[in-house]
Amino acid sequence: MKKRKKLIEPSIFCGDLGRIAEEAKRIEEAGADAIHIDIMDGHFVPNLSLGPGVVSAINRTTDLFLDVHLMMYNPFEYIEKFISVGADRIIFHFEATEEVKEVIEYIRKCNVKVGLAFNPETSFEMVPKYLDQVDLILFMTVHPGFGGQSFMPEVLEKIRMTREECVVRKIDQRIQVDGGINLETCKLCMEAGADVFVSGSYLFKHPDMKQAIQEMKGRVL
Ligand code: DX5
Ligand code: ZN
Repeated sequence: MKKRKKLIEPSIFCGDLGRIAEEAKRIEEAGADAIHIDIMDGHFVPNLSLGPGVVSAINRTTDLFLDVHLMMYNPFEYIEKFISVGADRIIFHFEATEEVKEVIEYIRKCNVKVGLAFNPETSFEMVPKYLDQVDLILFMTVHPGFGGQSFMPEVLEKIRMTREECVVRKIDQRIQVDGGINLETCKLCMEAGADVFVSGSYLFKHPDMKQAIQEMKGRVL
């Protein structure tokens, strides 16, 4: 199977929200592969974040791929809105709806990419059914809701098992990790089988985001 390019996505919610357009430009100029945009509804996770208006503002500033991570119940209601303001991929949570298959089909019909996210405590058994049904599987490596938390190493086993299953079934699946990703944890995730790395606090706190992304890419080659 061909070796896929490893991708780095800064999570803009961890940037300076008072200067979000500049942050989007900074991410682009730092050589990131995409912008990760966290949408939190105050119910599925105990926090509120950004809405379609902010995604639209980011979209007007950059041509980068916009990866919209919906941490909300009833994702159906907002999918079209986020697509209309520039989302290139919609990632929704397995735990947020009983209509996972229908949501996947709906996003596909809207002609954007689709990702399915799994919380740390959701067991591996739930994952295989969706391999090859979505463009990307996201494994949360923290409890979703806040940036700046510590990486949960127990998720690595789930990533490993998923990658193994992909190899056995010859599925070329993107696996994304999100939460507590830094120079050390990105390497652990890459070794387990991840190939898309979302990083918030680490990249935004680094004095030189471009250098931080280059270093991260060096670790996950
Ligand atoms: C967690 C979000 C993440 C997070 C990343 O709820 O989905 O994108 O903000 O931030 P760090 O890298 O600081 O964990
Ligand atoms: Zn996220």
